[in-house]
Amino acid sequence: MAKRQLLMLGIRASFHTLAAVLVAGVIFTAMFLSRNGMPKENPQSDGDSNVEEGEGSDRECNLFEGKWVFDNKSNPIYREEECKFMSDQLACGKFGRKDSSYKFWRWQPHKCDLPRFNGTKLLERLRNKRMVYVGDSLNRGQWVSMVCMASSVITNPKMMYFHSNGSNLITFKSLEYNATIDFYWAPLMVESNSDDPTNHRLPERIVRVQSIEKHARQWTQSDIIVLNSYLWWLRPHMKTLWGSFEKLDGIYKEVEMVRVYEMALQTMSQWLEVHVNSNLTKLFFMSMSPTHERAEEWGGKTNQSCYGETSLIDKEGYHGKGSDPKMMRVVENVLDELKRRGLNMQMINITQLSEYRKDGHPSIYRKQWEPLKESQVLDPSSYSDCIHWCLPGVPDVWNQLLYAYIVDDHHTT
Ligand SMILES: *[C@@H]1O[C@H](CO)[C@@H](O)[C@H](O)[C@H]1NC(C)=O
Ligand SMILES: *[C@@H]1O[C@H](CO)[C@@H](O)[C@H](O)[C@H]1NC(C)=O
Ligand SMILES: *[C@@H]1O[C@H](CO)[C@@H](O)[C@H](O)[C@H]1NC(C)=O
Ligand SMILES: *[C@@H]1O[C@H](CO)[C@@H](O)[C@H](O)[C@H]1NC(C)=O
Ligand SMILES: *[C@@H]1O[C@H](CO)[C@@H](O)[C@H](O)[C@H]1NC(C)=O
Ligand SMILES: *[C@@H]1O[C@H](CO)[C@@H](O)[C@H](O)[C@H]1NC(C)=O
Ligand SMILES: *[C@@H]1O[C@H](CO)[C@@H](O)[C@H](O)[C@H]1NC(C)=O
Repeated sequence: MAKRQLLMLGIRASFHTLAAVLVAGVIFTAMFLSRNGMPKENPQSDGDSNVEEGEGSDRECNLFEGKWVFDNKSNPIYREEECKFMSDQLACGKFGRKDSSYKFWRWQPHKCDLPRFNGTKLLERLRNKRMVYVGDSLNRGQWVSMVCMASSVITNPKMMYFHSNGSNLITFKSLEYNATIDFYWAPLMVESNSDDPTNHRLPERIVRVQSIEKHARQWTQSDIIVLNSYLWWLRPHMKTLWGSFEKLDGIYKEVEMVRVYEMALQTMSQWLEVHVNSNLTKLFFMSMSPTHERAEEWGGKTNQSCYGETSLIDKEGYHGKGSDPKMMRVVENVLDELKRRGLNMQMINITQLSEYRKDGHPSIYRKQWEPLKESQVLDPSSYSDCIHWCLPGVPDVWNQLLYAYIVDDHHTT
């Protein structure tokens, strides 16, 4: 049942058009080096730990700086074929991917260990609570990952509830813990003409940059909110509407993208400032998820994509042209400003660590929503999905980072 409902959600997002070319490779200048507390317990210490016993807890530890370590002992956390909530967009094994090393990498921060994920502890933390992911298909993939990780400790399937309301909201619930983990589709956060989770392949994208209430009132009443919004913005300009979609007297204007992205984030932060008490609700923003659509960027062949990639990029600090540092800075500024106004929203900085993972995407190993043309079959790179991520895989680590903040009280000062 569950699977069918997920399928019905379509997930047709063709990001190939979106992930269009971006501003040339400026260097990440974001210099927001955070001072973090130490994760307290259950370090993942399979031989490659960086933490010596007895070291002080006042040590600086940035969970987002580190390296990938091959570890087939503690990974993956769940099995693709055993997760009832797996999406055909992300089930790479099911769709023919034969290599498996992409499931086995563990993220090892330089100065401490990522706490080991414990599904029981997560559910205990979420008892009588609601956690909600809000955003696009990347965030939905992360939701699938979290639900797979959490449900792997639930032995009685009757104790799990799953519901897609046929629209923007998908709900997972552990009945034993009364713990809800939702996904809410709002790819641009604010209102847009792409708000239908299935039918959003439109010739022109239009965003109502000052309007968030229609969506936000569906997710504001939550204990943990995880937002993202990035890929759907990737175009030089965005058609922006002041007024409503229904009335004819609205004012439309093409606005330079980084500017309109900033406006949308400000709309979000104003909403949060008024409607959320950060003593009660934990807020997270997932930084941009990188893409690997052009092998030239990492020294591969021209006209190739992530298709066939099975190894990691080992150049420290590598970043591709799909990641826009200007947008990253906009997010940082908005979050800093929000903090000055007393509301703490933690950025989960997944960008750099995911940049290394050119091996992590589905490429051709996912459900194809439309039959392939012969020219495509002859050139797999041309229809490879180098945007989303196979599961188990990279988003599991994003969730482990979240877990460190949610369950282990990791914090940034
Ligand atoms: C994200 O993390 C990377 C790697 O640690 C760092 O270079 C970058 O400055 C960070 N960005 C932000 C906005 O914190
Ligand atoms: C883990 O990887 C090592 C090295 O590649 C291999 O020898 C071993 O058989 C693997 N173990 C499992 C359980 O897959
Ligand atoms: C997970 O957490 C639960 C509850 O805190 C604990 O009883 C259990 O031993 C933990 N499991 C592991 C593998 O650490
Ligand atoms: C179950 O969880 C919801 C939050 O998702 C909460 O509002 C409700 O009060 C909880 N029910 C009980 C019986 O505690
Ligand atoms: C699905 O849930 C959303 C959010 O609660 C709501 O706005 C929408 O009307 C619901 N759709 C259906 C078809 O029930
Ligand atoms: C949050 O908690 C702090 C410390 O208990 C308190 O001073 C502050 O007023 C609270 N903020 C809100 C919005 O309730
Ligand atoms: C790459 O593709 C372009 C356009 O399809 C083609 O003109 C060019 O010859 C190709 N280059 C290589 C090295 O295959």
